[in-house]
Amino acid sequence: MTRTAFLGTGHAVPDRVVTNDDLSRVMDTSDEWITTRTGIRERHWVREGETGAALALRASHAALAAAGTGPDDLDAIVYATSTPDHFAPGNGVYLQHQLGAGSIPAIDIRTQCSGFVYALSVADAWIRTGQYRHVLVAAAEVQSTAMDVSTAGRNTAVIFADGAGAVVLGPTDDAGRGILAFDLHSDGRYAEKLWVDVPGSMYHPRVSPEQLAEGRHFLQMDGKEVFRHAVERMPESVRAVLQRAGFGLDALKLLIPHQANLRISEMVQRNLGLRDDQVYNNIMCYGNTTAATIPIALDECVRAGRLAPGDVLAMTAFGSGFLWGSAAIRW
Ligand code: UT7
Repeated sequence: MTRTAFLGTGHAVPDRVVTNDDLSRVMDTSDEWITTRTGIRERHWVREGETGAALALRASHAALAAAGTGPDDLDAIVYATSTPDHFAPGNGVYLQHQLGAGSIPAIDIRTQCSGFVYALSVADAWIRTGQYRHVLVAAAEVQSTAMDVSTAGRNTAVIFADGAGAVVLGPTDDAGRGILAFDLHSDGRYAEKLWVDVPGSMYHPRVSPEQLAEGRHFLQMDGKEVFRHAVERMPESVRAVLQRAGFGLDALKLLIPHQANLRISEMVQRNLGLRDDQVYNNIMCYGNTTAATIPIALDECVRAGRLAPGDVLAMTAFGSGFLWGSAAIRW
């Protein structure tokens, strides 16, 4: 039976580092508040003109190099982002062109914080059915340009950030390895708990000066409501995906939770009864890069030697939609 294996991983972040003190200079917040409530110490934001596609390109080159392959060997691209460079087309085609990958299919997945897990499930289905062999999954976000960098926007501006992660996937006949199971969900009742209202095709024009004046182009979040659901849905989903894969929590070598808030990760860990060495967090250095948090963390774990062949890995995400889900993998 064919399964999907990870052949290479990579990540990239802008070189511009924004510290909590930098934000404290432009809004009413403090390093103490941000660290205590979120765990974040610093994040990376793009400079003028630096795009999500450019970050994805750097991450993809790193993943291809790690896989020992090049763009010519790719059969498809799945690009997860909630912040495409333009309303249309999606960013997959920009990545295809900039990589020089030939006229292979390139699709965008727009499931926000759960984007990487959903993108992985599409790529996995393509590979297991034999439709495509080598699939590049890239997840990249530029959230900083949707931030209200003033006191009015402080509940999101201190959290969200920019970055990209990428993985090269391919088939393996080694039954003991690869992606084992997914657990995916949505609940659109909460669509407006974490959203960007405009520009939108329901408006004519798609964004008006009045809407801009009201700040409706900024990312808006009901933080408490998102938090409350995240700490329930993520552990529930990890339990479900491990059960589907035939493993208990004791078999789990590593859990990579979406990096939304360190307190959320800690509550997920406690709920699941996991040890510190079983959960990876890096939000302190990157903030919340939406779809990119999991592949950035995965690449760091791989490069630090935290995963050996045969190890059981789970990843779980929750966010805007609400959309959430998990994947179980035997490395
Ligand atoms: O990526 C997936 C989706 N995102 C998430 O999962 C994020 C989930 N939510 C959260 O992480 C948290 O709700 C936040 C970090 C956003 C907020 O933390 P909180 O503990 O829920 O704080 P709060 O919203 O209840 O605000 C408490 C106080 C408020 O002041 P008052 O009304 O008590 O006077 C806020 O105005 O903290 C204030 N506040 C801030 N103060 C300083 C909110 N943001 C800030 C800030 N600096 N940056």
